[in-house]
Amino acid sequence: MRTICVVGTGYVGLVTGACLAELGHRVVCVDNDVRKIQQLKKNIMPLYEPGLDVLVKNNVKRRRLSFSVNLKTAVKESEVIFIAVVTPPRDDGSADLSFIETVACEIARSMDTYKLIVDKSTVPVETGENVEVTIRRNLVKKIPFDVASNPEFLREGSAIKDTFHPDRIVIGVKSKKAEQILKEIYAPIKAPVIVTDIKSAEIIKHASNSFLAMKISYINAVSNICERTGADIEKVAEGMGMDKRIGRSFLNAGIGFGGFCFPKDLEAFYWISRKMGYEFNLLKEVMEINKSQRILLVKKVEDALWNLKGKNIAVLGLAFKPDTDDMRFAPSIDIIADLQKAGASIRAYDPQSVKRAKLVLKDVTYTKSPYEAAKGADCIVIITEWDEFKEIDMRRMAKLLKHPIIIDGRNMFDPAAMRALGIVYKSMGRGE
Ligand code: UDX
Repeated sequence: MRTICVVGTGYVGLVTGACLAELGHRVVCVDNDVRKIQQLKKNIMPLYEPGLDVLVKNNVKRRRLSFSVNLKTAVKESEVIFIAVVTPPRDDGSADLSFIETVACEIARSMDTYKLIVDKSTVPVETGENVEVTIRRNLVKKIPFDVASNPEFLREGSAIKDTFHPDRIVIGVKSKKAEQILKEIYAPIKAPVIVTDIKSAEIIKHASNSFLAMKISYINAVSNICERTGADIEKVAEGMGMDKRIGRSFLNAGIGFGGFCFPKDLEAFYWISRKMGYEFNLLKEVMEINKSQRILLVKKVEDALWNLKGKNIAVLGLAFKPDTDDMRFAPSIDIIADLQKAGASIRAYDPQSVKRAKLVLKDVTYTKSPYEAAKGADCIVIITEWDEFKEIDMRRMAKLLKHPIIIDGRNMFDPAAMRALGIVYKSMGRGE
C-alpha cells in the first residue's frame, strides 16, 4: 500500500484516484475548485462516467479515498504525487503547461520527505525535465525526489475498464527507485509494463493518440473514394481490419474525431515537433481531413433538403462519442453552427449531454426523446452513435417526420433496411 496524492479531479485525475484506491492504496484527490471538492465529498460526480460514482463511494467508505483542496497537507501526507491537471490548447495549438508549473512549484514548497512526482497529464516531450528543474528551484531545503512519466490511455465511457485492463503500462523513469515504486503501485494490474526514459514515455502518449487519429482520418479519406465509386466503406474497413498488422479498431468512418484528447494532442504534437525543427505535415493533413468530414455531412443535408432556410432539423446525439456527456470539441458544435448559419432550426436529443450542451450550443431546442425531436422535422441528422438509437422504431420515426430523410454521420443503420422502409437514407462512404 502506498500513500498517493492525485492533483486534479478531471477525467484522468478522478478515474486514476478512484482506481488506485480500489487497488488498495490510500489516495487523496486534490483540486483547487472548492465546489467540485464539496460535491465529490457528497458523492456527486463532476462528470458522467459509467461506474465511477460507485467506485468512488465504495472507496470513500473504506477510507481509502478522500478529497481535499489543501495541496500542501496532501503532499506532506503522500509519498507519490500524480499530476493530472489539464493541459489545454493555447491559440497556436501548443499545450498550455502553466497549471503543471504552478502545481510543481507548490509541491516543491510543501515537500519535507522523499517524493516521487509522476506526470499523468498528456504533455509534450521534455515536460518532465522542466518539472524537475522547477521543483529543484523551488525546494525550501534539499530533499530527495524523483520525477516520472506515466501516461494514461483511458477512453471516456470505458475509463475504469481501460484503467484496470490496459494494453500496457508505460513507466518513464530516471531511477530504479521510481521504477520500483510505480511497478508496485500497479502490481495488481495484469498488464505488460514497459519501462523507458521519461522523454520516450512522453512521446509514446502523443504518438499513440496521433496514430489513432491518423487511422480515423485515413479511413475517412478512403470513405470519400468509396462514396465516389459506389464501394462500401464498411466492407473495405472489415477487409483491411482482418490484416492483423492493421486491425479493425479505429477504422469507423464518419464525421471524424472530437473530444478533449485527439484534436488537442495532434495540435500539441505538431507544435512540439515544429519547435524541435521537424515539420510533421502528416499530422496537419490528419486534422484537415477531420475538418472536411464535418463539412461533408452538412453538404449531405443540403443535397437532401436543398435550401436550409426555414427547415427544421432533428439532431440525434450531441456528445463527442457515446457513453459520455462530454461536449469538448464535439463534431456536433461545428455541424449545428453550420446548419444554423444556413438558416435551419435545430431540435436535438442526446441521452446524457444536454446539460453540458446548453453551455456551448446556442438556439437549440432539446427534447426528451428521439421521437419528439423528429416530430414534424424535415430530416434527421445522426451525429453520435448511442446504442439506444439502434432500438429506435424507424417505421414510427418515418411517420413522424415531414419527409422520411435520415442523414447518418456514423453509419449506424443498414442502407437496404432503411430503403425498405421508404426512408431516404444517406450515410458516409457507402455509395448510396
Ligand atoms: C482517446 C484515446 O483513445 C485514449 O487512449 C486517450 O487516453 C484519450 O483519447 P477518447 O477521446 O475518450 O480517448 O475517445 P476515443 O474512443 O478514442 O474516440 C475519440 C474520437 O474518435 C471520438 O470522437 C470518436 O467518435 C472518434 N472515432 C473513434 C471515430 O470517428 N472512428 C473510430 O473508428 C474510432
